[in-house]
Amino acid sequence: MDGGAAAGGDVREAIEVTGERGAEWLGSYRDVHMNVFGTPLRVMDHGEGVHLWDVDGNEYLDFLAGIAVNSLGYAHPAWVKAVADQAAKAAHVSNYFATPVQIELAAKLVEIAGAPEGSHVYFGNSGAEANEAALKLAKLYGRTLDNAAPHFGEKPARILALTHGFHGRTMGALSATWKPAIRRPFQPLVPDIEFVEAGSLCAMHDAFARTGQGPYGKGPVAAVIMELVQGEAGVLPMDADYVKGVRKLCDDNHALLIIDEVQTGIGRTGSWFAFQREDLGGVTPDVVSFAKGVAGGFPMGGIIAFGQETSDLFTPGSHGSTFAGNPLGAAAGLATIRTIESEGLVDNAEERGEQLRAALRECGNPLFREVRGRGLLNAIVLAHPCAHAAADWALEHGLIVNAVAPGALRLAPPLIVTADDIDAAVAILSRIPADLPDD
Ligand SMILES: Cc1ncc(COP(=O)(O)O)c(C=O)c1O
Repeated sequence: MDGGAAAGGDVREAIEVTGERGAEWLGSYRDVHMNVFGTPLRVMDHGEGVHLWDVDGNEYLDFLAGIAVNSLGYAHPAWVKAVADQAAKAAHVSNYFATPVQIELAAKLVEIAGAPEGSHVYFGNSGAEANEAALKLAKLYGRTLDNAAPHFGEKPARILALTHGFHGRTMGALSATWKPAIRRPFQPLVPDIEFVEAGSLCAMHDAFARTGQGPYGKGPVAAVIMELVQGEAGVLPMDADYVKGVRKLCDDNHALLIIDEVQTGIGRTGSWFAFQREDLGGVTPDVVSFAKGVAGGFPMGGIIAFGQETSDLFTPGSHGSTFAGNPLGAAAGLATIRTIESEGLVDNAEERGEQLRAALRECGNPLFREVRGRGLLNAIVLAHPCAHAAADWALEHGLIVNAVAPGALRLAPPLIVTADDIDAAVAILSRIPADLPDD
């Protein structure tokens, strides 16, 4: 299929599952890759804007954006220029040195987060690494608490994470990640991380209340780590009262609140960060982790520590990575954020998100039971658990979405998505057959 066909509102005929060139590449893929991702659905060649083409020339409207990564879509001229210019200057310097782009990006992140005077950034390379940094910071903070180990006779401070939360696959981040199937094979993991029922203030209150002396008392809580919209769990927004209640419990008990904005941040949910949305609590975190959309497709992540005291927990030698603050990633990040600003894409995320949810609710597909989300992070809850078959059907009809849970499809298009793109996607989604087989 040639370029441009999917841009309008028409629904095309099914694309054959994998063309000849794709099939050849997939054979080679299996020969050389460890099998952690299963068989890729297609072999992709290039993209432009919200569109992606596979090696057989088929065109797709991309409503997944590399899982909430490609904020500016594919090959945005400002992004391409910034990365190319930086590559021509210096792709990497070690952390014995700094680069202007890295300093500018850190300042920009502090600015868009509205973080107070004294706030600082640590850069890593992914969402998991961002949360590793946040958890290490929380560990250091825990050691400063009066009644926690390493003081004589005291118990180690605890970190509370939420059921259904997702924070990454490295050992620390995995220890705070709920899904038993991906966590249990690697146990024992990092100790003193406990799961608390998401959405229940009572449960959170009880978890804090377990702090105490005696055989049943536990160490104090150093931090709570949570997402404001649980993305991997099926795009589940937290209730504002719950978020405010958790903030208060953290305040009352001198614990840090770590908000994982890896999936929700950098404009995706209709504000720079989800914590800035009134309807998600409007709370101030102590630490925010970010990644995915921050550099528009370049691997980058990190944390913002709010205020001087929290920032000062990291001292020379506490943490690091060879690629931390890499200039190519920083140039990509700066171009991404500046373009989001200059093209008004935070507002676009809010408006297009509303358009998408309204259109899906009105499209009349009996398979759709509920549509939920914030900005451009959304899910369609299906009437029966056929999300993989539904995502495959959409792909065969030129639309990329993903089965985030057996009963839910995730839609997370680039922030540059237009009203016409939304119409085109809904035209395809509205035709997904309701009688697909369950996963
Ligand atoms: C909320 C959240 N945190 C952390 C991660 C891990 O990010 P990465 O895959 O870049 O390590 C993800 C990835 O999906 C995520 O959604």
